[in-house]
Amino acid sequence: MSGKKLYFGIIGAGRIGRVHAETLAFRLPQAGIAAVADVNREAAEALAEHCGIPRVAASAAEIFADPDIGAVLICSSTDTHAGLIEQAAKAGKHIFCEKPVSLSLQNIDRALAAVEAAGVKLQVGFNRRFDSNFERVRQAVTSGEIGTPYLMHIISRDPAPPPFAYLGPSGGLFLDMMIHDFDMARFLMGDEVEEVYAAAGVMVDPAFSAAGDFDTAVVVLHFRSGAIGTIDNSRKATFGYDQRAEILGSKGKIATENRFPNQAAVSVADHVYSDPPLNFFMQRYTDSFALELQAFTHAVIEDRPTPVTGADSRVPVVMALAARKSQDEHRPVRLDEVDA
Ligand SMILES: NC(=O)c1ccc[n+]([C@@H]2O[C@H](COP(=O)([O-])OP(=O)(O)OC[C@H]3O[C@@H](n4cnc5c(N)ncnc54)[C@H](O)[C@@H]3O)[C@@H](O)[C@H]2O)c1
Repeated sequence: MSGKKLYFGIIGAGRIGRVHAETLAFRLPQAGIAAVADVNREAAEALAEHCGIPRVAASAAEIFADPDIGAVLICSSTDTHAGLIEQAAKAGKHIFCEKPVSLSLQNIDRALAAVEAAGVKLQVGFNRRFDSNFERVRQAVTSGEIGTPYLMHIISRDPAPPPFAYLGPSGGLFLDMMIHDFDMARFLMGDEVEEVYAAAGVMVDPAFSAAGDFDTAVVVLHFRSGAIGTIDNSRKATFGYDQRAEILGSKGKIATENRFPNQAAVSVADHVYSDPPLNFFMQRYTDSFALELQAFTHAVIEDRPTPVTGADSRVPVVMALAARKSQDEHRPVRLDEVDA
């Protein structure tokens, strides 16, 4: 790599803003952070202090106007992403945006058109593609090691629901949480889904019902190849972040387990046990978050395509909208019903 450095402006200093700022500040020598903005100025100030960011900007617009900033990192709440992408693209900034780009396909299409028109790079935060376990599963499929994939299972359960203030603009279970698993399904299988059938309910907290949302769901996926998959989500797994996958193929299977803080097993008179898995995304996916930003930074500096494209950002939203329709109408829904 050349000795070039890419300077970022960060928009949104909440949970994921902090994870990404730590990567840029402490783990990625080719990157620097020029400024951070948050509508909650105190959050931006705290992050600036924590990561040694030299400037707290008054607004996202101030970041877009800064000629020293080459790329923006959009980590604000989901309902702001598409508009910020359009503004960033018009300002000629390369863009890393958290998932999902929008809950509306029309907004996604407008944002992607702005990116295309400006000729800037866009990468969307499907970080699990950069996890070494999931990369190995994909490799077993693409290399033919397990033969033709027949069945895929993704288990993806959070340790506890997020704050209800977060849930409001998030899009709910299918568009906020399962969106990662819809992306994983495409990534791991190297195949596209044609039809989904969803069953969702409220088992964890009745407040999800009041919000018109769910906390528990299984979705059956029908792939173009004929293979079948399932995604299983829960907002609460008492023992920690439960993130596993398995694919059965004509020559064998590949499966991944959870990640643990240590490998120790305690043996006493009545039990043998170990510590629970890493608790949540900040711990479990630390490396993948760093690797996705490294890939984006290198793509910009070396003028190469980004590894997770605008098109990759759109399909999981179509899958999520189809899953919600399937749940509402109690029937299988083809993706082309929601994206004609
Ligand atoms: N890839 C992942 O694993 C992952 C994990 C968590 C969150 N996310 C995504 O990241 C986004 C943020 O999630 P979070 O958990 O960090 O939420 P959060 O609520 O902790 O933080 C969001 C921050 O954005 C700020 N904000 C809102 N509107 C803004 C605006 N117009 N300009 C500037 N700042 C604004 C808020 O004040 C808040 O500080 C969501 O879209 C979410 O889906 C992705």
